[in-house]
Amino acid sequence: MIIVFVGPPGVGKGTQSKRLVSHFQLVHISTGEMLRKAIGEGTRVGVEARDYIDHGRLVPDDLIVELVGKRFETFPSEQGCLMDGFPRTITQARSLDGLLEKLGRRVDVVIELVADRDEIRRRLLDRARLEGRSDDSPETITARLEIFDRQTAPLIDFYRKCGSLRQVNGMGTPDEVFNRILDSIRS
Ligand code: AP5
Ligand code: MG
Repeated sequence: MIIVFVGPPGVGKGTQSKRLVSHFQLVHISTGEMLRKAIGEGTRVGVEARDYIDHGRLVPDDLIVELVGKRFETFPSEQGCLMDGFPRTITQARSLDGLLEKLGRRVDVVIELVADRDEIRRRLLDRARLEGRSDDSPETITARLEIFDRQTAPLIDFYRKCGSLRQVNGMGTPDEVFNRILDSIRS
């Protein structure tokens, strides 16, 4: 099973990914985490990506496709996989389709997590106090939400037209959201 998680920053993709990965024994591919690791290690991709992330902008598609392409070189071809925060553009979605096609596979389910913007901002500002992620400042949160609306929302229409989209309410406790996601996968 190949699952794609799409939704605005702070909606709970990472939180729910951890649960799904252990529930279904999936490989977790989070481009955000891969990029933060690359920045920490000072790799070329990390150096090139840093400024985009700190300003809440999308990292260019070619860098993301390079990063994910490398990850796919060691991808166990039978294993289920959860994509968290990738793809974020239609170009990335087409690249993912190409990578999967080589393995004779395709995206099975796209889960769109939705939540109120006030709740999202609250979650991210709380996380800023706890974890201090470099892109959780109030200004960068606003920029990330705007970028999502402008650049990633069209991807949701793309997947809706493919018929693989399930919209899930991301409000409530993490347990409530997780149960809704499980229901949407089973349906
Ligand atoms: P990325 O790391 O993907 O971040 P994001 O999409 O901005 O989303 P977050 O990770 O902030 O939120 P989330 O939805 O995972 O929520 P979480 O579970 O953590 O990307 C970071 C940057 O990297 C991008 O801005 C871009 O620059 C770059 N990038 C990454 N991928 C890219 C790509 N494919 N193309 C181009 N650029 C890319 O939850 C948030 C908080 O809320 C947590 O503290 C959590 O504990 C809490 N919480 C979660 N669920 C609940 C709940 N139900 N109730 C209460 N609190 C909750
Ligand atoms: Mg995340």
